Amino acid sequence: MSDYLDPSGKHLLFTGARTANTFAETPVSDAELTDIWELAKWAPTSANSQPLRVLYVHPGEGRDRLVKHMNEGNRAKTAAAPAVAVLAMDTEFHEHIPTVLPFRPELKDAFAANETMRTNTATFNATLQAGYFILAVRAHGLAAGPMSGFDADGLNAEFFPDGRFRALLVVNIGHPGENPWFARLPRLSPDDVLQWA
Ligand SMILES: Cc1cc2nc3c(=O)[nH]c(=O)nc-3n(C[C@H](O)[C@H](O)[C@H](O)COP(=O)(O)O)c2cc1C
Repeated sequence: MSDYLDPSGKHLLFTGARTANTFAETPVSDAELTDIWELAKWAPTSANSQPLRVLYVHPGEGRDRLVKHMNEGNRAKTAAAPAVAVLAMDTEFHEHIPTVLPFRPELKDAFAANETMRTNTATFNATLQAGYFILAVRAHGLAAGPMSGFDADGLNAEFFPDGRFRALLVVNIGHPGENPWFARLPRLSPDDVLQWA
């Protein structure tokens, strides 16, 4: 067993992975969707806070309720994807702190007393976990289609009416269909991005 990802692994997760815009009819099982989370959960968050929550929306009535909150250009592919995940942050993630950070349970009370710190921690770490989630989808040989183009207030009222969870990203999941990719867009070069000190 190697202790690094070989080129085919890097191809699967990064260099060859694309954002899918159409999907084959091949179904994605609930077991696969559960396994995606079982993989993504191991990637790190601050204070092991793990504020991401995942709502999988099956085709049918639930999907209809979701599609109406997507931006026009995102509706057809959200309706057609075999599986769709709504990635949300749990604004009350600190309730789990005694379990996930057992050597510092008092941090739960610190988060409870400071809404700004709690919201910032939830937003940053759930967004980080959304990135991990996309890579976990790819690791299962599936394509992801992440979308931030939706009416967040409408979606939250539809699926999370008590206000505890707030949607961050909707991700279509499946095997690529016909003409699934837009043209590959350029990525920034090391000169644009890297600094050395
Ligand atoms: C956070 C996020 C939000 C996105 N929102 C949308 C969206 O609302 N609609 C859409 O068609 N594509 C959306 N995309 C897809 C990006 O445009 C696409 O991933 C990017 O251009 C890279 O494409 P590639 O993976 O095929 O190289 C989103 C991607 C991310 C990561």
